[in-house]
Amino acid sequence: MKHLHPKTIELINNFSDKERIKSIKKFKWIGYTNAKKIQKKLDDLLDYPKNLRMPNLLLVGDSNNGKTVLLDRFANQNGSHIDEETQELRLSVLMIQAPPDPDEKRFYNAILESLFAPYRSAEKVELRQQRVIHLLKKLKLKMLIIDEIHHLLAGTMSKQRSFLNVIKYLSNELKIPIVCSGTRDAFNAIQTDSQLANRFEPKVLPKWNNDQEYLRLLASFEKILPLKQPSYLIENSLATLILSKSEGLIGEITKVLELSAILAIESKIEKINRNVIENIDYTSPSDRRKMIYRL
Ligand SMILES: Nc1ncnc2c1ncn2[C@@H]1O[C@H](COP(=O)(O)OP(=O)(O)OP(=O)(O)O)[C@@H](O)[C@H]1O
Ligand SMILES: [Mg+2]
Repeated sequence: MKHLHPKTIELINNFSDKERIKSIKKFKWIGYTNAKKIQKKLDDLLDYPKNLRMPNLLLVGDSNNGKTVLLDRFANQNGSHIDEETQELRLSVLMIQAPPDPDEKRFYNAILESLFAPYRSAEKVELRQQRVIHLLKKLKLKMLIIDEIHHLLAGTMSKQRSFLNVIKYLSNELKIPIVCSGTRDAFNAIQTDSQLANRFEPKVLPKWNNDQEYLRLLASFEKILPLKQPSYLIENSLATLILSKSEGLIGEITKVLELSAILAIESKIEKINRNVIENIDYTSPSDRRKMIYRL
């Protein structure tokens, strides 16, 4: 079983088929080059000296292409800790999901909720904003990550503008980098404000192509999928088939490989081949959309 990571070999040798299948369904992080580059950028931003004009970052990418997973991992690595000198609670990175509509109160609620801080629904928006700023300063927050930012920028032009001002205000008051993540709509909205556009460096998680990086990703997956036989996923015909089914999205590549590996175990074939991939119960994203249209 030279095709596998030593930990994966251990898994095959010590666990039942059922347990192997369960392990396939568990999320396992793969550090592909683009993700590592963005992570390095986030590390640099985290230690950026405080000044009046902090740089921000906008992570742009298609849905299901790894934005949340990447940011979540970074936020978890830089979570809360107790300052040894002062014995006070510190939080380096706070990550929130933007509420589903561009409502300023709900936006502050999302921050307060993630800090387990109480709020009254009657509390005025200005007060809520000041309380958020006070709390984040007290925790010595070093970076705020707002995922799904396109929700906040989805309303009318004037709503969009007022949210862009909220982001600008927070960034100025806290003097910390703000990292936003969302779809291309978010990028377009930020471009409408030249001051923000200058301050938000865009980083893109592009769709996957049939290149060296993609083959490296498949090779990493092959090492951790607990199958007794080598599948040679990087061989041209398999790599192309997986890419066309998944339409270049890492979430879909993961799904195709997960379902294929499970079928390979259940059918005792113990490797992923064309036949296995063709027989999984999986619908490509564009076919899913077509199915909905036909309803
Ligand atoms: N680095 C990674 N290693 C392994 N699997 C990954 C990685 N990144 C993403 N995935 C897989 O892709 C799926 C989708 O990723 P994620 O939720 O981060 O997408 P997203 O870009 O945030 O999408 P959306 O815009 O819809 O929120 C994950 O659930 C995971 O299965
Ligand atoms: Mg996401």
